[in-house]
Amino acid sequence: MTKNITFLGIETSCDETAAAVIRENDNGTADILSNIVSSQISEHKKFGGVVPELAARAHLENIEFIINTALDKSKISLDEMDGIAATAGPGLIVCLTVGLNIGKSIATFSNKPFIGVNHLEGHALSPGLETKIDFPYLLLLISGGHTQYLIVKNVNQYEQLGTTIDDALGEAFDKTAKMLDLGYPGGPSVEKFSKLGDENFFTLPEPIISRAGCNLSFAGLKTAVLRESKKLNGNIKMKYNLAASFQNTINKILYKKTKIAVKIFKEKTNNNNVKLIVAGGVAANKTIRKNLTKLSQEMDFETFYPNEKFCGDNAAMIAWAGIKRFKMKLIDNTDVSAKSRWPLDKAAPYMKGPGLKL
Ligand SMILES: Nc1ncnc2c1ncn2[C@@H]1O[C@H](COP(=O)(O)OP(=O)(O)OP(=O)(O)O)[C@@H](O)[C@H]1O
Ligand SMILES: [Mg+2]
Repeated sequence: MTKNITFLGIETSCDETAAAVIRENDNGTADILSNIVSSQISEHKKFGGVVPELAARAHLENIEFIINTALDKSKISLDEMDGIAATAGPGLIVCLTVGLNIGKSIATFSNKPFIGVNHLEGHALSPGLETKIDFPYLLLLISGGHTQYLIVKNVNQYEQLGTTIDDALGEAFDKTAKMLDLGYPGGPSVEKFSKLGDENFFTLPEPIISRAGCNLSFAGLKTAVLRESKKLNGNIKMKYNLAASFQNTINKILYKKTKIAVKIFKEKTNNNNVKLIVAGGVAANKTIRKNLTKLSQEMDFETFYPNEKFCGDNAAMIAWAGIKRFKMKLIDNTDVSAKSRWPLDKAAPYMKGPGLKL
C-alpha cells in the first residue's frame, strides 16, 4: 500500500494568515487534519481596504501561533510530513514574504521538500479537496484580484480563455460596498443588503457584453453605480435597490460570458462533457451559484463549487496544491522568491492598460 501524502500549507498572500495540514485519502480527495485561518478584517475595516504594511505586521505577529495551532490540531509532527507548501505569489510582496520565508525555514530545518505554490493554482484545484474531478475542466476564478476563465488541463497546465480587462469581480463588489457605505468586507455585505432591494430597479451597463469573447469588464458598471449613488440623498430603500441591481447586473454578465466560455471550452477540448468549477472568494455568493447552476441546466453541463470555507483565502488549498505538485515531482528549491504577478497561463496576453485592442 502506498503511503498517503501529507503536507503542511501556509498562506499569507493578502489579509488572511493561514496554515493547514492536509492528507490525501484513498478516494483521491483530502482529509482536512487542520485548517486554521486568522482573518485581519478588524484591522483593515477602518480603512475600508487592505493596508499592506499593517497586513504584513499582522502576519508576522500571528504566523508562528497559527502554524503551531495547525500542527497541534492535526496531531501530525513535522517529521511525519511529506513536504511543506507556502504561497509564493501572486499577492503583496511584504505579505507573501512572511509565509514563504517561514515555510522555507521549516522545510530546511526539518529536511523536507519545499513547494512555492501559486495562490491561483490553490483556488483552481480547491474543489478537489472534497470532490474528485477529472481534467480537463473549465474554471471560473472570481476573487479579490482576479477574474478569469481557464481550461484546467492538469496540475500546472492552464489555458486562459478570458479575463477582466480592468477591475476584478471581488474588487467591483468591494468598491460598490464602499460607495454605498454597506460595510467591510464588501462582497458579503452587498449580497446581504441586496436581499432588501429590488434588483430590477436600476438598469446598469454590462460593459463589452457583445464583444471580446469571454473577456470581461466591470469599470463602466462601477462608474454607473458611483453616478447613481450620488443621487440617493440618504434614501435607504434606494441604496438597497442599487446594491441589488449591481449584483443582478453582475449575474447577467456572468451568465452571458460563461455561456461563451462553455462554447469555447467545447471547441478547444473537443469535449461536450463540460464541468464548470467556480472558485475564489466571490464564489461564496449564493446568487452567483444559483445563476450559474441555472445556466448549467439550460446548457446541460455540470457545476462544482468549493465549500464556502475553501472559497476565500485558506491554507488547505495551498497544502492541496503542494500535494498535487509533489506527486508530479514539481518540487522547488528554497531559493524560490515571492512574485507579485504570476499568471497561471504564461502565454496569455496581458489584458490591461492603454492601447488594449479587443
Ligand atoms: N458573498 C460574497 N459575494 C461577493 N463577493 C464576495 C463574497 N464573499 C467574499 N467576496 C469577495 O471575495 C474577495 C476575496 O476573495 P479572495 O480571498 O479569494 O481574494 P484575494 O485572495 O484577495 O485575491 P486573489 O485570490 O485574486 O489573490 C473579496 O473581494 C470579497 O469581497
Ligand atoms: Mg485568493
